Amino acid sequence: MKFDDEYFGDPERIALAKRSASLWKLLKEDSRFAFQGRIVVLSEPSDDMVEIMVDLAKLQGGSVCNYFPEQDAERTMSELEDRGLRVVEHVHLRGDQTCLDASHAALATYALPEDISVIAIDETTSSELVGEVAEMSESCGVMPAPGWVMRGNGPAGIFLVAKNALGEPVACAGSFMCHPKGSSRATDAFWGMLATRPDRRGQRIAFLLGAKAIIHMWDAHNARGFITGVSAQNPSSMALCKKIGLSETGWCYISCIDETLFASASITK
Ligand SMILES: CC(C)(COP(=O)(O)OP(=O)(O)OC[C@H]1O[C@@H](n2cnc3c(N)ncnc32)[C@H](O)[C@@H]1OP(=O)(O)O)[C@@H](O)C(=O)NCCC(=O)NCCS
Repeated sequence: MKFDDEYFGDPERIALAKRSASLWKLLKEDSRFAFQGRIVVLSEPSDDMVEIMVDLAKLQGGSVCNYFPEQDAERTMSELEDRGLRVVEHVHLRGDQTCLDASHAALATYALPEDISVIAIDETTSSELVGEVAEMSESCGVMPAPGWVMRGNGPAGIFLVAKNALGEPVACAGSFMCHPKGSSRATDAFWGMLATRPDRRGQRIAFLLGAKAIIHMWDAHNARGFITGVSAQNPSSMALCKKIGLSETGWCYISCIDETLFASASITK
């Protein structure tokens, strides 16, 4: 794997992220699983999901199940808690053509501030910039993906960065095909990892980066659905997601954390 030295966080976090990378290498053809750029997750619920989520959390520090019916969440969450895990529910948002239409409308209506330039991180991006993006993302409470994911060497996708006139990263957004090709969800892409440096918030930078990412995924990778998980207590992200064509689905993301491995970390906000 190229760029396999670009992992971020403290040594414990890095060790877990490396395990997630190895796990994904083993499981990437298995339609039970998906990869959200940082950890391997359950693609969708199954009868044995509690056991699998416990194992995933023990290996990686955390795990998520996508497309979980909200009405059944309480029981499954308490089963996971009984197994000693901290459990968090995120609102599961999804959009399809709605996202493409909203993204085109956004780019036709708004422009980025004049000092901002946008790049997609790839093999030619300096390690220094990748490290700065990870730091900026982390400082906004969003766990950064490793370099090989941001650079597009893993799942097909895109990771966009807005830089100011000094070349500093001030915002980022990413989207990746997260399910194996054989999955019934194969054309749904994970979209998110949005972060904007506090002094540049409210300038529609994340919105426009997110819109560009959606259009790219639709055109270049045949993405026809976009999914993300957001905390119900994150109104800014929720408002942005809705503005970009995602809506609530009746599903939730069930996340569980093994606190002996993952201390106070959370994957998203
Ligand atoms: C969420 C976040 C990325 C938004 O970044 P941003 O660049 O300030 O967002 P934008 O200026 O592009 O906002 C676009 C739209 O989102 C909504 N929005 C953004 N911030 C908002 C806020 N504080 N309150 C309400 N709505 C908000 C608005 O609808 C806004 O459009 P409008 O200005 O036309 O009304 C930023 O607040 C952030 O980094 N938060 C911490 C990390 C995080 O929560 N990431 C998301 C993980 S799921």
